[in-house]
Amino acid sequence: MTLNQAAKAKNANYSKSDFIVIGTGIAGLYAALNLSKIGSVTVLTKRHTEDSNTQYAQGGIAVSLDKDDSWELHMKDTIEAGAGLCNSRAVEILVKEGPEQVRNLMKLGTEFDRVGGKLDFTKEGAHSKRRILHAGGDATGKRIRESLTNLIDKHGNIEIKEENFVVDLILKNGSNDRIVGVLVWDNRAKEYEIHQASAVVLASGGCGQVYENTTNPDVATCDGVAIAYRAGAEITDMEFVQFHPTTLYNPGGLSFLISESVRGEGAILRNSSGKRFMPSYHKLAELAPRDVVARAILNEIAHGDKPYVWIDVTHFDPDYIVHRFPTIFTTLKDRGFDMRKEWIPVVPAAHYMMGGVKTDTFGRTNLENLYACGEVACTGVHGANRLASNSLLEGLVFAHRIYQAIKAKKVRRNYKIDDLVTPSIKPYGVSSLNLESIREKLRKKMMNQAGIKRNEKGLKDLLDWSQKKLELFSDTEYVDENLWELKNMLTIGNLCAKSAILRKESRGAHFRIDHPHPNKEWVHTHIVLTKNKDEEYVLEQ
Ligand code: SIN
Repeated sequence: MTLNQAAKAKNANYSKSDFIVIGTGIAGLYAALNLSKIGSVTVLTKRHTEDSNTQYAQGGIAVSLDKDDSWELHMKDTIEAGAGLCNSRAVEILVKEGPEQVRNLMKLGTEFDRVGGKLDFTKEGAHSKRRILHAGGDATGKRIRESLTNLIDKHGNIEIKEENFVVDLILKNGSNDRIVGVLVWDNRAKEYEIHQASAVVLASGGCGQVYENTTNPDVATCDGVAIAYRAGAEITDMEFVQFHPTTLYNPGGLSFLISESVRGEGAILRNSSGKRFMPSYHKLAELAPRDVVARAILNEIAHGDKPYVWIDVTHFDPDYIVHRFPTIFTTLKDRGFDMRKEWIPVVPAAHYMMGGVKTDTFGRTNLENLYACGEVACTGVHGANRLASNSLLEGLVFAHRIYQAIKAKKVRRNYKIDDLVTPSIKPYGVSSLNLESIREKLRKKMMNQAGIKRNEKGLKDLLDWSQKKLELFSDTEYVDENLWELKNMLTIGNLCAKSAILRKESRGAHFRIDHPHPNKEWVHTHIVLTKNKDEEYVLEQ
């Protein structure tokens, strides 16, 4: 019997490549390009190549390339923003290796904005230097994605498979810690595929869609963390979700990010009485760390008479606004706001997940052959609060380190189909569960009970509710992408609630109303959850 016949017997097709990369943001594309030097790469994305958080990254990529800057200063800022919880070794790697990877990105075709021929650095919250490179004004992520996919398109060794939803990771038979492939639903061919590889790289992004109000595109449902958790991976720091302070106030409609670099260039935040308020909260005023600005905004809203605050750039040169922030200017104009002439109403929205699949400094997880990089991973560089624009850099640096680790490993094993654990393959079709209503309820509950401010009562209710909803999924007859996504989202809500209950203090982006201060006993403690052994507390080395 051929491998394909064997797979067919399991109601799936069979395919194989040296490496699988899941996700098409900066981390996934850069990992794929690097890995293609040593083997064949299949990149899987559940929608289309451009559907990722990277595509929407406005502000830029933080890197100490300016002569007035240094990796030491970048490291200090990153660790300060991380509120005591960063892994200092991982941060050092990020800031020391970052410049070389960014130079490489430029060689690969990304053109960052320049003034008079020199790279133009902007500033963002909690950075002591102007060190954020940007491209196309405020279209940095899109430009990076385009330059990387242009190269991939010309590459014979990389295949991007769109509309391929990874349902689950596949373990080797008889092993509970060796990943040998993935089970995929190919929505174009309308069939399941068992795809074997000697390494699987998760680069599938973050969890913004788990919240009702988010800057993230609708693909950001954190599938990577959920499938890794189900396979036995360690998941850590899930209580830390960053809210971006300034997104357009648009109740019931689409949220839209107003980049921190707008504040970096001098924008002012005003409360409902028109008064500038940030100087009374932090010495860095509008450029304080994000968690501080987001909570200050909530406080002003609670004491004001409007459900938002304003961001004001009317003191900027109008031509500068149009040229420096073309995406923001045009999008706001389309939605009826002229930022040259009027203050723009803003509120915080869920933006970035600091936690994720726990990795070492080479992107390795506790499961053999499973690696993670980008937002889905927790390398430890962000601690309790990510420093603005560090995430694109993290994607590059750790994708490259995964390539180094895999290259050094050399051994590539081939398995027979019977060596693979048979995944549970249910018939594809519309489930009888009311998925839409559960999804909306989850997003509301996450916003209200696991948002910028939390307490034990709300978190426990969220934990119980998500657990009960997850149980409904075990005996559904039919499955499809909506069901898999929702199951993954509920898993994330559950892990976030569980971790937030356990951390009985406030630190960085995790603010407990019932424990409003940091507790020094928690400063080196991470909560690590695994399917079989939850509630493990780990002291950082
Ligand atoms: C922004 O442009 O404000 C987003 C940058 C980031 O989240 O790092």
